[in-house]
Order: sequence, then structure tokens, then C-alpha cells
Amino acid sequence: MAQVIEARIGDDPRGLTEALEDGGLILLPQTPFEILQDEKPLMDPAIFSGGSKNVSYAPDSGHLGGTCLEGEALERCRAMVARYATFARTLLQQVAPSYLATAEQRRTSFRPGEVSSRALSPRKDDRLLHVDAFPANPNQGRRILRVFTNVNPEGRSRHWRLGDQSFEAFARDFSPRLKSGPGPLAATVLQTLKITKGRRTPYDAAMLQLHDLGKLDADFQARTPQQEVHLPAGACWIVYTDSVLHAAMAGQHAFEQTFLLPPEGMAAPDKAPIRILERLLDRPLG
Ligand code: SIN
Ligand code: FE
Repeated sequence: MAQVIEARIGDDPRGLTEALEDGGLILLPQTPFEILQDEKPLMDPAIFSGGSKNVSYAPDSGHLGGTCLEGEALERCRAMVARYATFARTLLQQVAPSYLATAEQRRTSFRPGEVSSRALSPRKDDRLLHVDAFPANPNQGRRILRVFTNVNPEGRSRHWRLGDQSFEAFARDFSPRLKSGPGPLAATVLQTLKITKGRRTPYDAAMLQLHDLGKLDADFQARTPQQEVHLPAGACWIVYTDSVLHAAMAGQHAFEQTFLLPPEGMAAPDKAPIRILERLLDRPLG
């Protein structure tokens, strides 16, 4: 069952790491990320470009995408998101320090848009319960660990739902509908055409199917045991979004930092979805 574990900086990191790996959401209620005075005008969905739903920062290159800001305002936004990337890394160091040796710090996102009013196709609609899997970004078995912070200036919570089912139970229920694939040739074509950044492995194909099958199954959405969670303004939370069933229902103004972690970097690698799926399907997924 997905549990919300309230924690504080200074709590035993071994316990928190184990809780994360067991499908817990670690909630740090009083860990605000400070928005500076001259950053307040950036808390506005008008900064988006085109149809983007978040502003995205690449910590390695410094590239900032998804925004129509220019000049000085663009630099102010980049500095703010870069500061969040450092903040999130420091938080991870305090909560699960053993992860830092192997965790890759990936995209940082700033989400000033309202979640509840987005009109999206069911596959893209994160208001439906799902585990994260991204068509263009194969993880090849690495975990998706995310740090979120609610910075809503009016003190509004971010409203999520969490499914009670463990990843194993969820995957077992849907496993009869999983198709194998892509074959090595199809994976090479996707990569060569730059449809995927890197090779889509059988693991990635299985995770994408689980993401879509879950979202498109209205009966599952309505009937799977679940709980409402209100994540307060000023709070941070850390969760493995590739294994915990989650849905973002409402809320505005959040930051998110993605880390990718190889199963070997976990305290208990056997709890990684790739290992669970390999046992369940009785075939290698690498
Ligand atoms: C998601 O990962 O499904 C969205 C989370 C959020 O923006 O709160
Ligand atoms: Fe998600």
C-alpha cells in the first residue's frame, strides 16, 4: 500500500531509503524552497511557450526550454530553476545519501500551470492513476526518483491520488495484456530516427504499456483502492514515480527534479520494477 511518510531532515536516512523502495512517499512538510522577490513575476503560466506544460531545465547543459521568456527575464528564470536543481540534490543527500554515488541528475521542471484544467488525451492526462514511463526517454531499467516542491504563493495544496496497490500487484494484474517488443531491429529504427533518446529496451516497452493500459482502463481507475493526498504549500516530497501509482488532480506552482538510479544503487535492488517484471514475465528485459 502506498503510504505517505511524514519526515524531517535529520531522520534516519536508512529508514527513509527503505520506505522509498517499499513504495512510500516521503513528505517533508516544512522544507520550503524560497522564491526571491524578483522571481515572483515568473509564477505565471504566461511564461510558457506554445503548448508546453512545464518549463524544463537541463542541469548538465544549462538549457531552459518550454518558456517564451527572453533576455533578462529568461536568465532570472534559468537561475531560479538551477537553484532548485541544487536544492533538490541537497534534499536527496539528506534523505537518501547512499543514492548520490549512482544517481544521475536529469531534467528539472518548473510547473506554474494549474493541473486540474488541462485538456489532454487520456494517455497524457496525469489526473489518471499511472506509473511514469516516457516514450522518448527510455530508462533501460533505471529507476525514476522524483523530488517535488509545492511553492504555491496562495498557500494552496497540490492534490494527488495514490493507488494502494504495490507495483508488483499492479503489474501482475495487467501482465496478461503485455505484449513483448520492440524487437532489436525496431528499437534500432526508433533510436536512429531519434524518436527515442537511446535504445528502447523490452523493459521500457513493458513500462510504457503499463502506463497506457492503466490510464485507459476506466474500471481500474474507478475501482482500484486509492487515497487522496494533499501536499501542502511549503512542502517537499520524494517518491519513486515509476512504481507508485499516482495522479495529480489539482494545484499550481511546483518544482520537480528527476533522478535516474540504476537498480544496483538501491539498498534492495530486487525491489526495482525491472527485477519484479523479469520475475513475473520470466524473461530478461534488458
Ligand atoms: C505526474 O508525475 O504525474 C505529475 C505530478 C505533478 O505535477 O504534480
Ligand atoms: Fe506521473
